[in-house]
Formats: sequence, structure tokens, C-alpha cells
Amino acid sequence: METKIFSQDQIDDAVKLLAEGKLVAFPTETVYGLGAIATNEKAVKNVYVAKGRPSDNPLIVTVSDAQMMSKYAKEVPERAQKLIKKFWPGPLTLLLYVKPNSLPKAVTGGLDTVAFRCPNDALTHELISKLGYPIVGPSANTSTKPSPTTAQHVYHDLKGKIAGIIDGGPTEVGLESTIIDLSVPTPVVLRPGAITPEELSNALGEKVLINSGKVSDKDVPKAPGMKYRHYAPSAPVVVVDDPQDFANIELTSATGVMALATVLKKIKLPEVNKFNLGQNLTDADHNLFGGLRYFDDKPEIKQIFVQGFNGSEDTLAYMNRLNKAAAGHHYMAK
Ligand code: TXA
Ligand code: MG
Repeated sequence: METKIFSQDQIDDAVKLLAEGKLVAFPTETVYGLGAIATNEKAVKNVYVAKGRPSDNPLIVTVSDAQMMSKYAKEVPERAQKLIKKFWPGPLTLLLYVKPNSLPKAVTGGLDTVAFRCPNDALTHELISKLGYPIVGPSANTSTKPSPTTAQHVYHDLKGKIAGIIDGGPTEVGLESTIIDLSVPTPVVLRPGAITPEELSNALGEKVLINSGKVSDKDVPKAPGMKYRHYAPSAPVVVVDDPQDFANIELTSATGVMALATVLKKIKLPEVNKFNLGQNLTDADHNLFGGLRYFDDKPEIKQIFVQGFNGSEDTLAYMNRLNKAAAGHHYMAK
């Protein structure tokens, strides 16, 4: 299958493909999503096939606005209305009860809840509005790989497997949306993102809980995606919590040891061994997945040391993704 790249003035061509049940990747402010018309079971099933995603890991439903969402939600509780008013369109996904029989089972994996997201991206807004139906929108990467933050990342993973990609340039945030579960008595942040628990708590006027993400094999995690390995390049990743420690790590191209950091000036290393995450945490959010991909598929690379951040709630999303990529491995000085 030929995978077409669409520019922003070719949205109508992309709408046509989606209406036919084909798969088209689309930009959002977080990461690129893999779109298929959410009301077509066959199209939705093909999303799992293209990504190589386990079928028990449900998909986000991407809407153009809250009105479209209300056709597929069993109800829109007051909490949801508050958050929509404050954060939509934007990097926040709401977990609500699904309206029975409004969406194919493949979307929700048979759960009674569904995750709704309304991205802050003009191209995608136009795409969904013109289609007139929501599109499913998991990240447009091969399952277990870092989420794509450029159209080129999507092409790398999914060329020949999907009908098209809308190229909206690099995404702004770089990490996936915050997911908040509003189907439970006390709201729970299931996945940290650009919108922090504190901002959510302030908007709701009540406390929110944070899912630790730690699940034993026996548990069924609330966000099923959490049990899978994620964001992992081919070489093992190690988190460096204290940037000073980069001085103690022997980074050499001869041994294939690489660095991903915002403090590269302090790291003595051939240029090819470095990937600059930028100046600060916002830059690092934006560049993390691109950096992990930069060192991917290169057999000569044996280990990747990546700068950690600690401190405020703002670091939760970055550290959540990095810890998954590193499978919990942190640098410990003797
Ligand atoms: O920023 C984002 O949210 C991006 C862009 C493309 O919109 N999308 C995204 O989708 O990250 P995905 O599928 O890669 O991650 C969605 C997560 C998965 O971990 C999935 O298990 C969880 O949301 N999820 C989806 N529906 C759910 C449900 N009904 N109950 C619990 N978790 C759900
Ligand atoms: Mg994903």
C-alpha cells in the first residue's frame, strides 16, 4: 500500500480516505495520532493491526468538540464540563462511561468506559469536523516504540501499512495527553501529561488522585496500556537523575555509549554520541521521543544515558515516559 503524505491544503483527500474506512495519521499538539473512523469496526480493527497493538488496549476517541463527544458518552458529568471549559481543546483526555452501543467494541476493548480527547490542532479539527464523526487516535507509532512527534517518525514506523499521513510539522508538547478518570468517585490521573494534577485539582475544586503506574502482574491496570513495555529504543536506557553524574560516565563512541541531555556542554563526547534535549524541561518534553528514536535501529549503540529531572509536578510526565523507556534503570554512583 502506498502511504500518501498530505499537506495542510489536502485535508479533503484525507477526509475521503477516512470516510472509506482507511487509516490516516494526523497531527495533534502532543504527538501524532493514527486515525480511523471510530464508528466503523473494521477500520478500527485495522488500527490494532497496523500498530501491532494488543487488542485489549483500548483506543482514545478524538472529537472536534464537546458536542460531538456527547453523542458517545453515557453522560457528561459536571466535573467533565468544568475541565472541558478550562482545558479543551488541549492535551487532556477524559475517561467517561460510554453510551451503550454507540461505538464498536474494538474501540473500548469491551470496557464500559471510553477515553475522549479534543486536540488543539487546527488541521485535525478541520479533519474531524468535515468527516462528521470522531476518529480513534492512538499514538501513530509501532506498539512499544516512542510516540511520533513528526510525520517522518510516523512514516518510519507505518509506511506501507496506512493510507496517509497529514504533515503538520513537529508537535508542540511532545508527550502524550494527561488522562483523567472521571468514571470513579474521586478523579484519578491515569497518565501524567502537560496538564498537571494540581491544575486539574484547582479547576475541579477538589482533590485528584495520581495513579502510581505500579501494577503487579496479577492486577488488571486501569489504563490497560500501562502494562506494556513502552517508548523503548533498541539499546537499553539508563536514567541519570543528577546531571553532575554525566561527568562520571564513560561515554565513548568506541563502546557505543550515548547521552541524551540538556547539559551537553559538560559532557566530553564526540558529537555523534550526543543528542541535545534543549535548554530546559519544556524543551526536554518536546525532544525526548525524537532523541530516543535518533539512537534507535543502530546496532552499534549499546547503552543510552538520559538526563532525569526531579522536583515539581511539571516533571511527572517526562519522568513517567523516561522510566518506562528505561524499565526503571537509574544510574547509581558507588
Ligand atoms: O496525546 C494523546 O493522548 C495521543 C494523541 C495522538 O491524541 N494519543 C495517545 O493514545 O497517546 P494511546 O492509545 O497511545 O494512549 C492512550 C492510553 C492507553 O494507555 C490506553 O490503554 C488508555 O489510554 N485508554 C484508552 N481507553 C481507555 C479506557 N476506556 N480505560 C482505560 N484506559 C484507556
Ligand atoms: Mg501510545
